[in-house]
Amino acid sequence: MSNTLKYASMRSIGAYVPQKILNNSDFEKMVDTSDDWIVKRTGIRERHIAAEDEYTSDMAVHASRDAIARAGIEKEDIDLVICATVTPDYFNMPSTACIISDKLGIRSVQAFDISSACSGFVYGLSIAKAFIESGMKRNVLLIGAEKFSSIVDYSDRSTCILFGDGAGAAVISAVEDPEEGIVDIHASADGSYADFLITPSPGCVNPASTKALEEGLQYVKMKGNETFKLAVKTLTRDVKEILRKNKIEISDIDWFIPHQANYRIIKAVGDSLGMTTEQTVLTVHKYGNTSAASIPMAINDIYEEGRLGYGDMMLLDTFGGGLTWASAVLPFCGR
Ligand code: COA
Repeated sequence: MSNTLKYASMRSIGAYVPQKILNNSDFEKMVDTSDDWIVKRTGIRERHIAAEDEYTSDMAVHASRDAIARAGIEKEDIDLVICATVTPDYFNMPSTACIISDKLGIRSVQAFDISSACSGFVYGLSIAKAFIESGMKRNVLLIGAEKFSSIVDYSDRSTCILFGDGAGAAVISAVEDPEEGIVDIHASADGSYADFLITPSPGCVNPASTKALEEGLQYVKMKGNETFKLAVKTLTRDVKEILRKNKIEISDIDWFIPHQANYRIIKAVGDSLGMTTEQTVLTVHKYGNTSAASIPMAINDIYEEGRLGYGDMMLLDTFGGGLTWASAVLPFCGR
């Protein structure tokens, strides 16, 4: 490629959803809950759960193969692999991105994980953009993948009904046409809310131990109601700001693709922006919250349904543990 300015462009999307389904009536047998409560409070009807021997890297590999093929490139063209996940194959090391690269046969290229919970895919998008626009990389394989079921306490009704497993992947490539480039990304964090969403162990604060296991510290803990309120307030403000800054009207957006945590959060943010039902992509009813995988899985849904076309303008927004939040405006430039 010449020395002309480079832009980072989303060239493809892929996703993988595991076979097994847990529906709301399954939860009625496990904890004190009801289909009615879950649907009314969250919009979730079912979520997919990975098999015992199916790992985050395996789901990511399925999604990545589709994304690479749909981008019309060879795996040898990939020069950076980023995996956003908080449910890695192994805590600490090796990174899941390294395992994915090996399973795909992509060798001797930079590969690393990022941990930004549900904001991981959009955070990863900002990293891919920076690598490409600086000229350091040309084709980034960006993955959001989670086996969230591995950190869920299936006796805690306040969390277990929310999460599902899955993976999504995109190829982000260097292009010369500014019309194809990512328009803007906002990514923010406020660590003073760290305890709103936390898996206390393993980590150096609570290393793996029999005591930690007995206390269930390996499971996700969430201050659900506080997180909910903060998510609505923060996302609404952040999305308005990215649109204002880039002089983009709601009518310029073809697809509003929010993180799929709770239908009520999506509706509250969408309503305050003036988004129509037709613009808003919803998958929470069938996948639940798949954390870093949620946005690429949702993009893939409308792609596979034939609704997402080349040049369609997407608005992404997300919120998650950290606390972290992010929004992005970009055209989809896959075929
Ligand atoms: N079934 C039935 N009742 C349940 C329940 C369940 N699965 N889970 C919680 N409850 C009960 C609570 O115990 C509480 O009962 P109480 O009033 O007797 O104490 C009551 O429902 C209300 O709980 P609350 O937590 O205030 O409900 P909520 O309206 O906030 O809904 C969530 C709970 C988790 C669905 C909601 O807070 C949420 O979606 N939070 C954000 C999730 C999120 O965005 N996560 C992170 C970003 S990725």
